[in-house]
Amino acid sequence: MALVELDSVDKGYYSSGEVTEVLKGLDLSADKGEMLVIMGPSGSGKTTLLNLLGGIDVPNGGRVTIDGEDISGYNAAKLSDFRRRKVGFIFQFYNLIPTLNAKENVELSLETVSKDRAANSAKAKKYLELVGLGDKMRNFPQELSGGEQQRVAIARALAKEPVLILADEPTGNLDGKRERSIMELMKELQAELGMTFFIVTHNHNLKKFADRVLELDDGRLQRGV
Ligand SMILES: Nc1ncnc2c1ncn2[C@@H]1O[C@H](COP(=O)(O)OP(=O)(O)OP(=O)(O)O)[C@@H](O)[C@H]1O
Ligand SMILES: [Mg+2]
Repeated sequence: MALVELDSVDKGYYSSGEVTEVLKGLDLSADKGEMLVIMGPSGSGKTTLLNLLGGIDVPNGGRVTIDGEDISGYNAAKLSDFRRRKVGFIFQFYNLIPTLNAKENVELSLETVSKDRAANSAKAKKYLELVGLGDKMRNFPQELSGGEQQRVAIARALAKEPVLILADEPTGNLDGKRERSIMELMKELQAELGMTFFIVTHNHNLKKFADRVLELDDGRLQRGV
């Protein structure tokens, strides 16, 4: 069954009286448990697409259906509830809370789904260990390197074990070895939990992990190489 359905999705931005059409009649269907890698030139609309899939923004036309929910007509409150229940985000910028340590950053995200503090603590620890940060759980973001902060953001998104992970250049700050281990972790979660991944990147190394590679260009998605 398709987890993600995009049906003739249009998205443009209006600024200073000018319209920029970014996505033009985009169609896409992705199965539950699929890993898609999306490539495309800078400014082609990759982040825009992730924002629509995650209910951060709404399309100007067309329909976005995720896990049986047509979110294109949702108001702000329903979108926020949808994001909490269904989506894990790994942003280009990590959006860690500077006054919380690594473990608390992960726990905060888990608290939006469950109030079981002991279970949240165990899960935060488990996922920080899985991304190789077992010894840095008490460090605050400013006490972590860029790559370590990126891994906290990855742990935060994965720990929720959501049905959909949206990742924007998720390994951009990691060395080759770390990149491989993070991608292998995501492949394991895909296989074990049936998590679905949309990974946006300029990095060709990530293509080999994908079930499908798509190229966004001129507002449309095409099969990538
Ligand atoms: N809030 C906004 N208001 C106006 N224009 C925007 C807005 N957000 C994005 N755009 C424009 O939409 C286009 C697509 O932007 P987007 O961020 O989706 O590109 P991208 O493919 O993610 O690029 P990159 O690879 O550089 O991250 C760009 O031309 C950008 O200037
Ligand atoms: Mg982008």
